[in-house]
Amino acid sequence: MDFPTLYRNIMLATADAGFVKGFFSRYGWRLGVGRFVAGADLAKALPVLERISASGKGLIIDLLGEFVTDEAAARATAVRIRQSVTGVAAAGLDPYFSVKPSQLGLGVSLELAHELAHEVANDLAGVGGRLCLDMEDVPHLEDTLDLYQLLHEDGCANVSTVLQSYLKRTPGDLERVIDLAADLPKAELRLVKGAYRESAEVSWQERKQIVDSYRELAYRALDVGLKLNIATHDEALLRELLAFVRGAKLDASHYEVQMLYGVRNGLQDELAAAGQPLRVYVPFGDDWYGYYSRRLAERPGNLAFVVRGLFG
Ligand code: FDA
Repeated sequence: MDFPTLYRNIMLATADAGFVKGFFSRYGWRLGVGRFVAGADLAKALPVLERISASGKGLIIDLLGEFVTDEAAARATAVRIRQSVTGVAAAGLDPYFSVKPSQLGLGVSLELAHELAHEVANDLAGVGGRLCLDMEDVPHLEDTLDLYQLLHEDGCANVSTVLQSYLKRTPGDLERVIDLAADLPKAELRLVKGAYRESAEVSWQERKQIVDSYRELAYRALDVGLKLNIATHDEALLRELLAFVRGAKLDASHYEVQMLYGVRNGLQDELAAAGQPLRVYVPFGDDWYGYYSRRLAERPGNLAFVVRGLFG
């Protein structure tokens, strides 16, 4: 296991500890959360969304929340997401949303998540929007792909999902997505490295293996004509893939770059200024703990935001 993977695993294990959660909940936004999260509610996030949109970048909007374990909470979350869809559309912004399937009750039952995700997808279709099903940890993976398939069978053509290059099984999952997407005119797939703590049995543990896997999956997806959402801040990998799409004369209907709010802002500006299709994933909401701990786990330097918040 290389250092980045070891660091991520230690950070994510630490983040699971109750006392760490309690500490973060107490000090909240003072610990640098605002660097990665646009606001505690939509009203606070709207100026950020408007600024990003005005700068020529696209949006992926995420009402934070995950791992909901009861039906009532999942239903309440779905209502809040649907209200956010209305609010974003009313503000004249592109309603491209991402959801965590577990926030719509995937951990309760696939049927519940299907019902709620279908409602969200329908609302989004009504305002010309899209829905991406984020990919969570391995226990949710098969159900997420089943959910994607069910929505596809419902005729929800505005739904896409995510695959993670750190998982050994992903080449097989990519073939399943390719089969499902075959009859969709604008099928999209977001490709990421993966942000969760997974065992060596199921996931690559070395950075090179994860990057090699990403590269292979990306070329396969582009080759079959999926619109590839290149979701990475890995500049070398990104530039290699952008050189490929330029050489192959693929336009924005075949790919776009996606990056997280608050990460590699300079690179985001540079790509947007160069006319690269780029979307920024902007989360908002008060359930930020899981999301923020994954961002801290991605880069040791991010701990400085926490320390600065405490002592600065
Ligand atoms: P890598 O981690 O190698 O980072 C490359 C460089 O980017 C670093 O050297 C650093 O400069 C910078 N960087 C990366 N992360 C940073 C951070 N947190 N803070 C500051 N700088 C950072 N994962 C998942 O499992 N399921 C999902 O659905 C999604 N969805 C998703 C959407 C979008 C739009 C993006 C960009 C990412 C995700 N992810 C995700 C997260 C993804 O799996 C991965 O954890 C992160 O993107 C970090 O990996 P990179 O490919 O960026 O490279």
